[in-house]
Amino acid sequence: MKVAGTHYRTIWEAGETVAIIDQRRLPHDFTVVALASLHDAAVAIRDMWVRGAPLIGATAAHGVALHMARDPSDAGLEEACAVLRATRPTAVNLMWALDDMRAYLAPLAPGDRRDAARARARALCDEDVAINRAIGDHGLGLLREIAARKGRVNVLTHCNAGWLATVDWGTATAPIYRAAEEGLDIHVWVDETRPRNQGAHLTAWELAGAGIPHTLVVDNAGGHLMQRGQVDIVITGTDRTTATGDVCNKIGTYLKALAAHENGVPFHVALPSPTIDWTLRDGLREIEIEERGAEEVTHLDGLGPDGPTRIRIAPEATPAANPAFDVTPARLVTGLITERGLCPATEAGLAALFPDRVRAA
Ligand code: MRU
Repeated sequence: MKVAGTHYRTIWEAGETVAIIDQRRLPHDFTVVALASLHDAAVAIRDMWVRGAPLIGATAAHGVALHMARDPSDAGLEEACAVLRATRPTAVNLMWALDDMRAYLAPLAPGDRRDAARARARALCDEDVAINRAIGDHGLGLLREIAARKGRVNVLTHCNAGWLATVDWGTATAPIYRAAEEGLDIHVWVDETRPRNQGAHLTAWELAGAGIPHTLVVDNAGGHLMQRGQVDIVITGTDRTTATGDVCNKIGTYLKALAAHENGVPFHVALPSPTIDWTLRDGLREIEIEERGAEEVTHLDGLGPDGPTRIRIAPEATPAANPAFDVTPARLVTGLITERGLCPATEAGLAALFPDRVRAA
């Protein structure tokens, strides 16, 4: 996507390093940072310089490649996969990318792994862009249909499933960008997404940069807007979706799905196939939910007169819990938007689109 007239992806090779956008500094500063080692890549994922399921996977793939330039031995490959796997637990794209890199590199002679790892990481990134573009094309049909009936399309989205969460285009935002290209009258309700405010910091920044009409709302506003008929469709991303269609995504997604169900608003999930965990059938019981630091809840981050600042909003002695994701049961999901088309959030629906993957799991 374009930033100040220049087209950027969220991750790219820069000489012997890998460049990323430091998302912790957005929307205030657009800062490009070079990752030079496995350690750098692991820190960038763990501390959320990069985030979003597909970009976490892409960064992990490049992290393996960075390590193969230093230690292409079998032990080096295992170390890279183990270190990166331990960074964040919920987005399955991380495990998917590491499994892919290991399967690709392990049969090769160590001397061939450096160049092969770079090429493979590059290919996974290109594949992510193509997947998201295809999700955009398939999701566009849903938005066109609403526009034909109602004129304006009001989409509500949660967290950031935009281009910053992927290599480019985004998942939930890809149909929105395509709709805007096509001239549909589209408006996006952006949930702020406490505690890290990915909606306020990132999705709003993205949509503003693309000139797409949007309005930031607090997380609790969604139900009210739906009751009043001000939301035509909810589209979110996902960090892990089971073979049966249960969707794990940023905390608060489940409440949006409940409100949508109650109000007859279609609730769709943009789902790149690397985010499907074909080994799981019960999202509530089987998906590990990341628990993040209490400070994200007891404090607020913002921009003060002297730069980025953090202020406490809760009493010193108050403990806080911070589950970062929740699971929306498949029965609350109207449909999945994948790179191969739309399907119901059911085992049969996913299997019909991805028969090759079901057999492989
Ligand atoms: O904790 P984050 O910011 O990595 O969580 C991101 C989300 O929950 C996104 O909605 C999800 O990864 C889908 S991104 C296309």
